[in-house]
Amino acid sequence: MNKKYYITTPIYYPSADFHIGHCYTTIIADAIARYKRLTGYDVFFQTGTDEHGEKIEKKAKEAGVTPKEYVDKIIENAKDLWQSLGISYDYFIRTTDKEHESAVQKIFKKLYDQGDIYKGEYKGLYCIPCESFWTESQLVEGKCPDCGREIKEVSEEAYFFKLSKYQDKLVEFYDKHPDFILPISRKNEMLNNFIKPGLEDLCVSRTSFKWGIPVDFDSEHVVYVWVDALSNYITSLGYPDESNEKFQKYWPADLHLVGKEIVRFHTIIWPCLLMALNLELPKQVFGHGWLIINGGKISKSLGNYKDPREYIESYGVDAVRYYALREVPFGSDGNFSEEALITRTNTDLANTLGNLVNRTISMSHKYFEGQILNPKVTEDLDNELIRSVLNLKSIVEEKMNALKVNEAIDEIMEVLKKCNKYIDDTTPWILAKDESKKERLATVLYNLLESIRISAILLSPYIPTTSENIFDQLNTNETSYDSINEFGKLEINKKLNEPKILFARIETK
Ligand code: MSP
Repeated sequence: MNKKYYITTPIYYPSADFHIGHCYTTIIADAIARYKRLTGYDVFFQTGTDEHGEKIEKKAKEAGVTPKEYVDKIIENAKDLWQSLGISYDYFIRTTDKEHESAVQKIFKKLYDQGDIYKGEYKGLYCIPCESFWTESQLVEGKCPDCGREIKEVSEEAYFFKLSKYQDKLVEFYDKHPDFILPISRKNEMLNNFIKPGLEDLCVSRTSFKWGIPVDFDSEHVVYVWVDALSNYITSLGYPDESNEKFQKYWPADLHLVGKEIVRFHTIIWPCLLMALNLELPKQVFGHGWLIINGGKISKSLGNYKDPREYIESYGVDAVRYYALREVPFGSDGNFSEEALITRTNTDLANTLGNLVNRTISMSHKYFEGQILNPKVTEDLDNELIRSVLNLKSIVEEKMNALKVNEAIDEIMEVLKKCNKYIDDTTPWILAKDESKKERLATVLYNLLESIRISAILLSPYIPTTSENIFDQLNTNETSYDSINEFGKLEINKKLNEPKILFARIETK
């Protein structure tokens, strides 16, 4: 049986249409999911929406619709966006799904019955847009440390989860699993800023708004955000039915991919909830950086963004995917700009990849009527190219296992550059002038076509549409991961299809 891999994105707030920042997380998760599938894993890739809470209740009221009507529309749009971006999720969970709601009620009741949830009074500092409570010391100049806006003091009867009870076990878990939180800097941040000062019990119910999952044994209360939201990762697998086939197969998650501001929920609250439920903990939480615009976060509440579909329409889906995956070192913040997207597309996709494929296929048509031949008239410089191409698989694997997605792509691009250099060094157009060099010319073209085939397989998790397009031009069925262990799988005597431009150079004004 194949090894399994369960990867999740955060479930997004459908408080407004999604922007390029949400696409960023989702494209990366998609690329990792596709990579794992390519390499033979049985992947379960989940995304979804986190639909409850005061903010959405308010927005719906302003719009004059019910909260459910409000989110339905945004979710329809989000699913359309994911389709345009080629997001290959296996499951889309909504926290308004009946199964999720009833599972959350059962989780809440179980924790209450076993004494891990108790009733108390909440007095706290709360940021409504971020739906986060903060302690006095976490505020920055008296404002929300995440978004910089006013916070309000709240006091109400509430249920609490005994987070403090699990503090020591959590630290022990961190010690035993050094790769649980990546990048490592985020782990230190969790320990120093949140755990060492002492974990406070967590407020897990509200009475001040209604748009939430009701606590079934106390109708004044709705379950407050994090128990509802975080549980999505197990309710989708059938929990609390632990014998459910999906749960048995996929839990624990292999990777929760999240933005840096929600690392603390995923690496403190979530593990403690799971410990209380006596479940295994996820293997890894990766906290990526933000895409920023002119130094600030792209944000629905700041309204500084374009519909991502506009970029897809202008530049093509793979240009957008490629940019998101390649531009920013994974883990760091990175500036988003349309100019950088254009430059990236022109240099890597149009020049390096597009030109290589186009020149090679065109020359094959020009000199051999598109026939794939390999008479094996080799020279030393062939070996160097072939060695680089064959090494790629393990290099990409190492980078992807460390979640260095941009570096994995860069390694493939380096090999494509070598292919372009190989064209310059072997000068096929000169070989073509000499009838006695025809076989050497055919060998050179074969080496290039085969290098392109192998590279396209390795590029397929990142730019799947382009890889398909390349396979089509190569007219090949040799597209499996195993087929790249050997140089020479491209079928001889078949005919290539006509060359097609992969990426037209984008002219800037
Ligand atoms: N609903 C919660 C997550 C619950 S998970 C159990 C939430 N939603 S969110 O819509 O505000 O953000 C979801 C994700 O999108 C976060 O990981 C966040 O970091 C990411 N991004 C939102 N804006 C972003 C950028 N500008 N750049 C990169 N990622 C960003 O938090």
